[in-house]
Amino acid sequence: MIYFANPKSEYLYLKNQIDRKIRDVLNSNSYILGNEVKKFEKNFSKYLGIKYSLGVSNGTDALILALKAIDIKQGDEVITTSHTAFATIAAIREVGAIPVFIDIKEDDFTIDTKYLEKKITKKTKAIIVVHIYGNPADVLAVQKIAKKKKLILIEDCAQAHGAEYDKKKVGTFGDFSCFSFYPTKNLSTFGDAGMISTNNHKFFKRLKLSREYGWIKKNFSVKDGYNKRLDELHAAILNIKLSYLEKFNNKRILIAKKFLNSIKSKKIIMPKMSNLKKHVFHLFVVRVKNNERLKFLNYLKKNGIIAGIHYPIPNHKQKPYKRFHKSKLPVTDKISKEIVSLPNFPLLSNKEVNKIINIVNRY
Ligand SMILES: Cc1ncc(COP(=O)(O)O)c(C=O)c1O
Repeated sequence: MIYFANPKSEYLYLKNQIDRKIRDVLNSNSYILGNEVKKFEKNFSKYLGIKYSLGVSNGTDALILALKAIDIKQGDEVITTSHTAFATIAAIREVGAIPVFIDIKEDDFTIDTKYLEKKITKKTKAIIVVHIYGNPADVLAVQKIAKKKKLILIEDCAQAHGAEYDKKKVGTFGDFSCFSFYPTKNLSTFGDAGMISTNNHKFFKRLKLSREYGWIKKNFSVKDGYNKRLDELHAAILNIKLSYLEKFNNKRILIAKKFLNSIKSKKIIMPKMSNLKKHVFHLFVVRVKNNERLKFLNYLKKNGIIAGIHYPIPNHKQKPYKRFHKSKLPVTDKISKEIVSLPNFPLLSNKEVNKIINIVNRY
């Protein structure tokens, strides 16, 4: 069986280094916010080209801390897309804010900026732009509107480590950028971990206090805070894996190019590429025509391929978020019934890639 993702393959590929490092950490007697976390934060900032990065417990907490850092209050509005992981909306709700959903573009699944200004009200405090599937959203257009309207811009980069918009890394356009290192992500560990990056020192200081009980020094708190720490074991694994991120992204891109050049099935709509964007293919998502998604998924399964759906039910149709659904989202509704994530991960073999192409083409 070929699954749409396979995090264990990365462990096996890096096993010696990772096993050695885990042993080192276990022997170090330092397990929380130690040297590995510091090193990872420094290396990640350098990789991204940003001033400050803060390792946190996961990508959802990264979004929550960013929203808390701007003092979002009950009833404030945050504009984002419904076509995103639960996490984006869960974070907005966790701070008591109202998600305002906006539609996406049919050809690349990212925010349709033409609706953005119309959604801004007196209550709007922030925009969360999601670089879904590893494909950069039109972040310059969003940034321009955010600046004009004096709104905070948060980039949800959970699926887009290393992606670029106009040769600049995503995660460097917003006031905050939030990353997840969940096991299937382009940069990942074997558990939960996340990062928030910013160029703003004031925000960085606030984030750091919030990460650990509002402590300015151990056992001395100056504001409300939480436990959203990153641990040493995950940071140590991430330090190793960060040095493979470009290589692994390049492999994902190579496989995607092969798919784009070779999949010719008339029943499948391929994703559209833009020269302005470096898509890092966290997921390779196609659309199945004629309401045939289930048939296509079953056909793939019968032929040894387990594809995914990201996501089958958009957030505005989920029970806790339905009540925030105010205006029509026709593209989100349409594509959520058509999308299929084909397997694409760095250690997929050529043989497996060719098998996927042949099977899809025979559909
Ligand atoms: C778009 C998006 N945002 C946020 C998150 C949250 O990350 P985590 O699972 O690390 O909390 C994820 C990951 O699932 C995601 O895909």
